[in-house]
Amino acid sequence: MSQRIALVTGGTGGLGTAICRALADEGVRVVAGYNSGGNHDRALAWQAEQQAAGYDILVAYGDVTDEASCAACVERVEELAGGSVDILVNNAGITRDGTFRKMSWQQWDEVLTANLDSMFHMTRLVINPMLEKGFGRIVNISSVNAQKGQFGQCNYSAAKAGIHGFTKALAQEVAAKGVTVNTVSPGYVLTPMVEKIPQEIRDKIIRQIPVGRMGRPAEIGRAVAFLCSDDCGYVTGSDFSTNGGQHMH
Ligand code: CAA
Repeated sequence: MSQRIALVTGGTGGLGTAICRALADEGVRVVAGYNSGGNHDRALAWQAEQQAAGYDILVAYGDVTDEASCAACVERVEELAGGSVDILVNNAGITRDGTFRKMSWQQWDEVLTANLDSMFHMTRLVINPMLEKGFGRIVNISSVNAQKGQFGQCNYSAAKAGIHGFTKALAQEVAAKGVTVNTVSPGYVLTPMVEKIPQEIRDKIIRQIPVGRMGRPAEIGRAVAFLCSDDCGYVTGSDFSTNGGQHMH
């Protein structure tokens, strides 16, 4: 069997790096999709860091909010990795927190476009080759805040909850052809996104987590790699909670 090829959007970020490494540990050929505001040097520096740590990970530019840019990204992935995408991890996402009364349309729109529209653009580009091949793994990164809602995140909670609706619908459409579609819903994980939250709010959040700490990126990476494995063909349409017990449902 030839080596599986994975595209991880937001691959050079906090969670993305851990996901790329966990997939590489499983012998997958990994391409990290990046945007970095078009800062290609930053992505190349990230790639060199991975190389120094023993990880041979490719990088491909793509703006997940833009259909044409996604198409160019997938083309580049195919060219670099020498085949079509077997595993897609829709991980790229942003926050624009604020209470709803203060939230602008721009804050709403940016979050919905980056976190939810991106699912459509990227998945549309890889789904047909997966169906033709009779194998595919799609993992969409949602959030505990989709499941429970979060003060200050009407935009993000809505987008992340939408992801799971998308996951369940698509999972039904492609299940018979060997393609699985699942959601991973991390809680608060120590990444730059979470580090932006003011310290006193972070302390309050930790008190709500039964495990008593924030998550580690590698713990999310492992969960994603499990769902992407060849022998995980009987798990589809599921939502894998990785939140230290902060929300159980
Ligand atoms: N529940 C109820 N009331 C709350 C509250 C809560 N959780 N948090 C704050 N309040 C109250 C405050 O006490 C305050 O009340 P008073 O006006 O009576 O004093 C009022 O609501 C306004 O709160 P703030 O002063 O905090 O409002 P703000 O505009 O300054 O800040 C905020 C709002 C930016 C949303 C800030 O509360 C915040 O950063 N919250 C954290 C949001 C969060 O958890 N984001 C997650 C980012 S990481 C991520 O998204 C990854 C993932 O998937 C988990």
